[in-house]
Amino acid sequence: MQGFAGKVAVVTGAGSGIGRALALELGRSGAKLAISDVDVAGLAETEALLKSIGAPVKADRLDVTEREAFLIYADEVKEHFGVVHQIYNNAGIAFTGDVEVMGFKDIERVMDVDFWGVVNGTKAFLPHLLESGDGHVINVSSLFGIFAVPGQSAYNAAKFAVRGFTEALRQEMITKKRPVAVTTVHPGGIKTAIARNAGSVEDLDAADLAAQFDKKLARTSPERAAEIILEAVRKKKARVLVGADAKSLDVLVRILGSNYQSIFSRVMGMLVKNGH
Ligand SMILES: NC(=O)c1ccc[n+]([C@@H]2O[C@H](COP(=O)([O-])OP(=O)(O)OC[C@H]3O[C@@H](n4cnc5c(N)ncnc54)[C@H](O)[C@@H]3O)[C@@H](O)[C@H]2O)c1
Repeated sequence: MQGFAGKVAVVTGAGSGIGRALALELGRSGAKLAISDVDVAGLAETEALLKSIGAPVKADRLDVTEREAFLIYADEVKEHFGVVHQIYNNAGIAFTGDVEVMGFKDIERVMDVDFWGVVNGTKAFLPHLLESGDGHVINVSSLFGIFAVPGQSAYNAAKFAVRGFTEALRQEMITKKRPVAVTTVHPGGIKTAIARNAGSVEDLDAADLAAQFDKKLARTSPERAAEIILEAVRKKKARVLVGADAKSLDVLVRILGSNYQSIFSRVMGMLVKNGH
């Protein structure tokens, strides 16, 4: 893809799914990659794939919830490549369970990874992106950052928070005429390991939930998702909806207003067989 040659791009959660596909598409487009993940085996596979296509790559184990480590990592990436242009705050986890039965710890864990991980990455890299004179923050929210569904309150909260944080940042950069573009990404169902890696409250069958996600909801390949995201990054779009499901449900929710909640809760009740 045009527009990425020579750019230094940072991708978190690059050991799987959308993160790996983004890193590979960026590598194929001539970017230099700083990739990270907590899953070192998955990360090593992505690193090997990048090396096989000749893309310069720095791979590190990084937990996005560890703020101090993230700040040090940002400086190391800058030192390694001399400049940093883009960060894709992509690492994320899912968790299913009703508010009634979820523990505080379950909710905090999702917020720590999915929201605070994005804040940590944005804040750690923003000075370097500004210094580059041509920076870009790309934060991965979700279709669940546009509407809520039963059983996803923690994930919904984190992804709505990512959207609010990122949309405010974009406006700050525009208002202050700062050289950093900002894009919020809202994927629909993407065929990745997210549901298989997800947690759930004890009395739900996690394997069954994952099988239902894989069978009924995951429609777009991670490779196609990466192409759609990078096309939007190239055009410096404010928001990118990934997949036909994301596009159509976004329109539907805007038409229905808050009435979407009564309709979606009935549909989700049918989809999530074991839902509480
Ligand atoms: N797959 C979907 O349908 C979908 C839909 C909407 C949004 N998303 C979002 O897309 C992003 C990527 O998800 P995916 O679908 O590729 O899932 P995935 O599970 O395939 O990949 C997520 C990666 O993040 C890593 N990760 C998890 N916790 C981490 C941490 N604390 N620090 C660093 N890395 C960590 C995992 O090890 C994994 O490699 C996530 O933010 C997810 O919420 C996915």
